[in-house]
Amino acid sequence: MNQFPAIVALSILCMACGKQTEPRNDTEQTDKKWWKEAIIYQIYPRSFSDSNGDGIGDLRGIISKLDYVKSLGATVVWLNPIYSSPNADNGYDVSDYRDIMTDFGSMTDFDLLLSEMHKRGLKLVMDIVVNHSSDEHEWFKQSRSSRDNPYRGYYHWWPAEKGKPNYRYSLFDENGDAWKYDSLTDAYYLHYFAQKQPDLNWENPKVRQEVYDIMKFWAEKGVDGFRLDAFQFAAKDTTFPAFPKGFEQNFIQYYAMQDDLHSYLKEMNEQVFSKYDVMSVAEGAGRTLQEAHDLVDSDRNEINMAYAFEGVDIAKPQGYDLLHFKEVFSKWDSAFAKKGWLSIFLANHDQARLVSRFGNDSPEYRVSSAKMLNTFILSMRGTPYCYYGDELGMTNIGFENVEQYRDIAAINGYKKVVNQGGDVRKYLSNLKFSSRDNGRTPMQWDASENAGFTTGTPWLPVNENHTTINVALEENNPNSVLYHFRKLTYLRHNNPVLVYGQYKLLQKEHPSIYAYTREWEGVKVLVLLNFKAEKASIELADANRIEQTLIDNYEEVDIQGNIFSLKPYQAVIFKIKRE
Ligand code: NOJ
Ligand code: CA
Repeated sequence: MNQFPAIVALSILCMACGKQTEPRNDTEQTDKKWWKEAIIYQIYPRSFSDSNGDGIGDLRGIISKLDYVKSLGATVVWLNPIYSSPNADNGYDVSDYRDIMTDFGSMTDFDLLLSEMHKRGLKLVMDIVVNHSSDEHEWFKQSRSSRDNPYRGYYHWWPAEKGKPNYRYSLFDENGDAWKYDSLTDAYYLHYFAQKQPDLNWENPKVRQEVYDIMKFWAEKGVDGFRLDAFQFAAKDTTFPAFPKGFEQNFIQYYAMQDDLHSYLKEMNEQVFSKYDVMSVAEGAGRTLQEAHDLVDSDRNEINMAYAFEGVDIAKPQGYDLLHFKEVFSKWDSAFAKKGWLSIFLANHDQARLVSRFGNDSPEYRVSSAKMLNTFILSMRGTPYCYYGDELGMTNIGFENVEQYRDIAAINGYKKVVNQGGDVRKYLSNLKFSSRDNGRTPMQWDASENAGFTTGTPWLPVNENHTTINVALEENNPNSVLYHFRKLTYLRHNNPVLVYGQYKLLQKEHPSIYAYTREWEGVKVLVLLNFKAEKASIELADANRIEQTLIDNYEEVDIQGNIFSLKPYQAVIFKIKRE
């Protein structure tokens, strides 16, 4: 594990890495489903739009921007948690699953948000955080109050008279220890994340029923889907056996997909998903491609789509290898070629900014590389997840000092390095590139002070480059990343080949260009993406069968004979005549 395990660990919450499985032979891939055709726009509510000047984004703020969201061509919004929370981890520590965080507004605001979304044909996916709750949830307060409290079994307790429990690694703890001693009842409780995020005991049927009831509460309100936070960690061997020394270097192998996890998902499906027209996605996709498959095989009745981290994990502070990138995305595609469904994403609230990580955020190439990356996300098979601000090409803020961070992963990760006498400078320099706060700075609406996000003091600083990267400017510039993003969503909605088409990688060894085709019902498109800041050319037989250029982030592509010459970060999609 490197110097900032919390960040890295999060980004690999469930990297699947096993051997490729043979795709099964049926046609589930082309069954039409609204969630396959969806374009998901992820909103981090704290950072999107502040309606009352307290510096924190809120539900009324989101409502005021719904026309913008609709104009992007998104069809579904995934909202990070908006429930009552003391905010140890910005809402991923829930103290009441049936109420709204005061910072974000009220249930009346939520009801209005949902009806305003539905009015515009937008669907809403809620984030369900049930591997753990907040320690301020009533269940935990009861649970810790005495050993014989009826809620004791809602969490994992280890009585101290049995000695110290076997070591468990915590992603957010400043000592990396997932057991916290509580003198009130002379016992330890388990927290895979921060101390204020005790893990719920999924082996207790009462806990499971509570969760299904909560999900039904939201489904009855009319929400359209659920994203299950860190869910692959939910099931545990409650005897807590010893793991081999150093297991934390590879903790996913020990934490993910344990024991009865699949049966819990089946139960959830039976009680919740099957009763409503909702989509379901769990964060993480197990340890192997087979486990990922099992999660989303429709015959097994668990969840709809896998959200796997292997792709997003590729980018490191020192860069990444395009051949590896192609190999990973192609491997996942081929494993799901016949059955199951994937999410396609390169960014979210746990990652740094798309263009800074995977592209080139220099003034020269920011626009072209952001357009290229959005072209990739919106032209692959799988449901695309677009993170707010990436449609503008927003960049990393790149904090220098630990005092600037708000994220518990960064702050406690820092303390851990200090506690363990590690290399603090290296930690901070990695964090500057990778930190989750890079991806959480306020949405850049205009060039005014605080980017039109708030009239108050923003909870996290606005990136200074908001004077040149913002919605207002990009709305008026047909060459902007925003314009290009809208063209891409329009294309995806109007070309089912981009949703359902079979994917085929071309020239996998090409060092600069990612080339692939998509083909469905007699329609074929060719996607060419130059991932490098230098010109590059590629020879392809399809050159003489081009029917139409569907989208190009430059004026044109230079084609001589069979050779396509691409400019730096050029991204183009052609429609190809049938052979
Ligand atoms: C994964 C979420 O995406 C992340 O933001 C959060 O910190 C952890 N789970 C804990 O809930
Ligand atoms: Ca506010």
